[in-house]
Amino acid sequence: MLRTSAKNAIRAVGLAGADASPFARRFHGSAGGSKKIVGVFYKANEYATKNPNFLGCVEGSLGIREWLENQGHQYIVTDDKEGPHSELDNHIPDLHVLITTPFHPAYVTAERIKKAKNLQLLLTAGIGSDHVDLKAAAEAGLTVAEVTGSNVVSVAEDELLRILVLVRNFVPGYQQVINGEWNVAAIAYRAYDLEGKTVGTIGAGRIGKLLLQRLKPFNCNLLYHDRIKIDPALEKELGAKFEEDLDAMLPKCDIVVINMPLTEKTRGLFDKERIAKLKKGVLVVNNARGAIMDTQAVADACATGHIAGYSGDVWNPQPAPKDHPWRYMPNHAMTPHISGTTIDAQLRYAAGTKDMLDRFFKGEEFPPQNYIVKEGKLASQYQ
Ligand SMILES: NC(=O)c1ccc[n+]([C@@H]2O[C@H](COP(=O)([O-])OP(=O)(O)OC[C@H]3O[C@@H](n4cnc5c(N)ncnc54)[C@H](O)[C@@H]3O)[C@@H](O)[C@H]2O)c1
Repeated sequence: MLRTSAKNAIRAVGLAGADASPFARRFHGSAGGSKKIVGVFYKANEYATKNPNFLGCVEGSLGIREWLENQGHQYIVTDDKEGPHSELDNHIPDLHVLITTPFHPAYVTAERIKKAKNLQLLLTAGIGSDHVDLKAAAEAGLTVAEVTGSNVVSVAEDELLRILVLVRNFVPGYQQVINGEWNVAAIAYRAYDLEGKTVGTIGAGRIGKLLLQRLKPFNCNLLYHDRIKIDPALEKELGAKFEEDLDAMLPKCDIVVINMPLTEKTRGLFDKERIAKLKKGVLVVNNARGAIMDTQAVADACATGHIAGYSGDVWNPQPAPKDHPWRYMPNHAMTPHISGTTIDAQLRYAAGTKDMLDRFFKGEEFPPQNYIVKEGKLASQYQ
């Protein structure tokens, strides 16, 4: 169903036809002409020149500046994204394409979408487009797409690292060394082997499956919850058991890993009540999105020891403010948002973004799995 605002927008650009989707017409009609493209990335400063493949930062600009400018397009890149006087906001009224990354997300609110009269395309250089008000984007007839699969290995590897860091109580040991201390007992009384533990992933899509695959040789009991059951042959290969009822799975797990997107259904999924269903002493890894958790409920559960360790790289909002409770809760192993922005990942999501821009200029379709909003419709897991 077309909403009125979208219909009006289509009428205004005169692209609606009787035989094809008006959204597709508008999108394909975008080909040709000089475009104003804005990229919002994190700034690298003194690190920018340390690696020629450091493409994901403002200075690296995804490595597409020359390519864009040679075709007559304007390319503006900034890290200044917050508030009504940010550089991003200065460009909102006349940009055609906005590229951003989940690592330093430009929050594309309904208000910004309303002001962005020329906007056609929102690209996420990475995975996870929850920084965009997807409903508002759909109503405005925008296309939202991400580089699906680009950093899934990077995140799955990082999750395995975080599981081991928590299970072995690594961080306090490292801190002892830094502080000139030596106290084996202070680490050992709560350090375990991973073998034999029950690990449950909530979300078993691309990252969840790669994590299960990587966990298999550790001889754990593997469980997964998802809205979709994995194909039986792959499930057998992974050695993971499907748990249809999330709340029934939670008390069984020694370790829980979050691997689902942030959607209207998953926002705040781990509130006080659901955290109470977790086994006492559980370890939690969350590289998915900070807002899937109730921030204070996690901090409280870490304080009481109900959650014995929490690690992840995603926060709400980002960058995390200095007074974010997760910086100060006990037994955490948090980092800034880094898992999906390894150099290898950057090369892949830069190439994927370039490919989609190229298709956009030519009026061609994107790979189907990349679409988050297309022709006024959200991808199924966001609905
Ligand atoms: N920290 C990082 O650097 C980083 C990098 C990439 C992705 N991510 C996050 O990880 C998420 C997952 O990435 P992916 O590539 O595995 O995505 P994916 O789409 O392949 O998998 C997501 C899985 O979650 C399931 N799911 C969605 N909603 C659900 C619900 N309400 N209940 C149960 N299951 C549900 C889907 O069925 C799917 O199997 C992304 O959406 C993103 O937020 C983080």
